[in-house]
Amino acid sequence: MYLCSRNHKKHKDMTKRTFLLFHLFTFSLFILAQTISIETEHTQMVLRVNQQKRLCQTYLGERLSAQTDLSQLSMPQAGLSSSCIKGLEAYPVMGTEDYYEPTFEIHHADGNPTSVLKYVSHSTTGNVTSISLKDELYPVEVTLYYKVFPEEDIIQQWAEIRHEEKGKVYLGRYASSMLYFEAPKYFLTEFASDWAKEMQMQSQELQFGKKIVDSRLGARANMMAQPFFEVGLGEPVRENEGTVLMGTLGWTGNFRFTFEVDNQHVLRVISGINHDASTYLLRKGEAFRTADFYFTLSNKGAGEGSRRFQRWMMNHQLHKADADRMTLLNNWENTYFDFDEEKLVALFGEAKDLGVDLFLLDDGWFGNKYPRKNDHAGLGDWQVTKDKLPQGIPYLVKKAKENGVSFGIWIEPEMVNPKSELAEKHPDWIIQLPSRETYYFRNQLVLDLCNPKVQDFVFGVVDSLMQALPQRGSGEGAIRFLKWDCNSPITNIYSPYLKENQGNLYVDYVRGLYKVLDRVQAKYPDLYMMMCSGGGGRSDVKGLSYFTEFWCSDNTDPIERLFIQWGYSQFMPAKAMCAHVTEWNRRTSIKFRVDVAFQGKMGFDISLKGLSDDDRQYCREAIKEYKRLKDVVWSPYLYRLVSPYEGQHCVVQRVNDDKTHSIVFAYDIHPRYGELILPTRLQGLDAEAKYRVKEICLMPGRQSWLSCNEKVYTGDYLMKVGLKVTSSNDLVSHIIEISKTDTAD
Ligand code: DGJ
Repeated sequence: MYLCSRNHKKHKDMTKRTFLLFHLFTFSLFILAQTISIETEHTQMVLRVNQQKRLCQTYLGERLSAQTDLSQLSMPQAGLSSSCIKGLEAYPVMGTEDYYEPTFEIHHADGNPTSVLKYVSHSTTGNVTSISLKDELYPVEVTLYYKVFPEEDIIQQWAEIRHEEKGKVYLGRYASSMLYFEAPKYFLTEFASDWAKEMQMQSQELQFGKKIVDSRLGARANMMAQPFFEVGLGEPVRENEGTVLMGTLGWTGNFRFTFEVDNQHVLRVISGINHDASTYLLRKGEAFRTADFYFTLSNKGAGEGSRRFQRWMMNHQLHKADADRMTLLNNWENTYFDFDEEKLVALFGEAKDLGVDLFLLDDGWFGNKYPRKNDHAGLGDWQVTKDKLPQGIPYLVKKAKENGVSFGIWIEPEMVNPKSELAEKHPDWIIQLPSRETYYFRNQLVLDLCNPKVQDFVFGVVDSLMQALPQRGSGEGAIRFLKWDCNSPITNIYSPYLKENQGNLYVDYVRGLYKVLDRVQAKYPDLYMMMCSGGGGRSDVKGLSYFTEFWCSDNTDPIERLFIQWGYSQFMPAKAMCAHVTEWNRRTSIKFRVDVAFQGKMGFDISLKGLSDDDRQYCREAIKEYKRLKDVVWSPYLYRLVSPYEGQHCVVQRVNDDKTHSIVFAYDIHPRYGELILPTRLQGLDAEAKYRVKEICLMPGRQSWLSCNEKVYTGDYLMKVGLKVTSSNDLVSHIIEISKTDTAD
């Protein structure tokens, strides 16, 4: 009995212990199997901590309705054999059992190039979830951040890396994001570029292995590849149907997107700063913040994805998104370097005659010892050329004001010509190899923005210009606009400032630029600035948090622009896309050229003298109409109806927020004779409402020949039947206003 009772007690104790252990075990399992859900209105990403405390992605797709379903998501085992202890790791590290491309690589002070990051904790504050990971062997910590923009369905990702090691620690890779997808097929749309050929969309199926889209140009970083991509999951990217991943990196420098299809046919998408030629020395205790990666996952094709990105840009990212924008007359293609005060003052008169808001003085106004007569000299010497403009910038601003236009000016403050006083005085401020022959891109070199003294200098370029004419009140009577150019990639890659830490150059250059732009923005919040880089060589969304707009391309041939604008419109809002009317492609009418520029942030870079009276009149009227309609033109609700990539027409439509007003832009390029013309179905309208259709911006004395002109239709009809807005004519364009009406005809 005793025995028995002793046995019984022992048994009871054991049961209690087992019970406790079991609970402890399940509790720790529960802790380990933490589930973290990142959600927007339509998208959900689920991360789970596995039993080895590794953070894995278990789901990324359409938002699930029931939270209880999250536990059904299995921990995938892609990549290696089934013995692989990890799933699809959220931030895979070099040196672990996943042999595919990692997001992170750290070289410890003892020379060990591997790490294992384990989950420590996570928290959510507002819209940001942060997840802390640590290496148990080395004092290395990585925090992953996920910020959601629920309404716009955008997720932002970045990471912060720190260590507490003694000795030198280098980061070999430091991506912002890894995303995994499982679909029968994958199709990548990339945006190839070159000078005058920005945003050329091309698609390909991704097969086993890797495809990398990246840039290594440093300053004019996007000249040959743009930091955007689209991936069709299951089928090629379509405009209104299908699941499409759309992503972009907010980094005004080298970027890299890696698309890798692994042995299990899982697509791995890594996005971040390009680590190539950038093994980064990270000092103890310093935080390395990666670039911001933004993505959306649309189930309604790229069209819906673009509207989300444009809304996000307008609501959260674009500098001065709520403020107005100025139409302008630029003198670059009119005068190039050949101007003086008299010519400029005459051009202020032309700006007034046109009815634009601002005159923009381009390259060629500075340098005295080495005046900027062409692109061989003067960059760096930001004093006005006295014998060209003896009364200086204040005089020009005053004269512009007398003509009722504001004044803006071109600068390229990150650059230097060897023929300049700056180069003579501060050769140590220039990025160039100490012991090799120097090569030049557009006869210039890049200043070393890693150096704080150079940052002060670059800020000083803006500051001195602005201080010469302090802003008053709303900024009237001062310089109101800067065109900030950047014509060279980083060449002769060696920073005299960084000395033996050259791996930090590309990253610290961009950080130096941001430090300058932070100061400019803080001191001159009213200043409008165009991001320009020999055309669209700079075009990222982080840049646009400092700049109010960007120059899409030096190519202003309206036909080419239809393609370039189509490309940028995948991500960028019209309000930020500078579109100027020029002399490019004189086979096109002025109307056609203006009608293409009307789609963006409109400007002119043309001599009025060369235009006929009718053409001049057309421009004036178009500017008036543009000003009247700009809120609709700049609406993020864009519907790309007919693609120039698919035929000889292009039709796009913008609809305002409350669906009361819409504009249709229709262009015929070079249609075949007798081509079948079908009506174009509109989108985004209120089916119940009635709309009046009116062609606007007609050449003086002309009537609209569109059969739909001045008629009233229901939104339902416009979206189901459509309007004949294209034709088999060569190079014809129409701008059609669609306004909600209460009357029947
Ligand atoms: C390149 C720009 O894209 C042009 O618009 C013009 O500003 C030139 N630079 C001036 O050098």
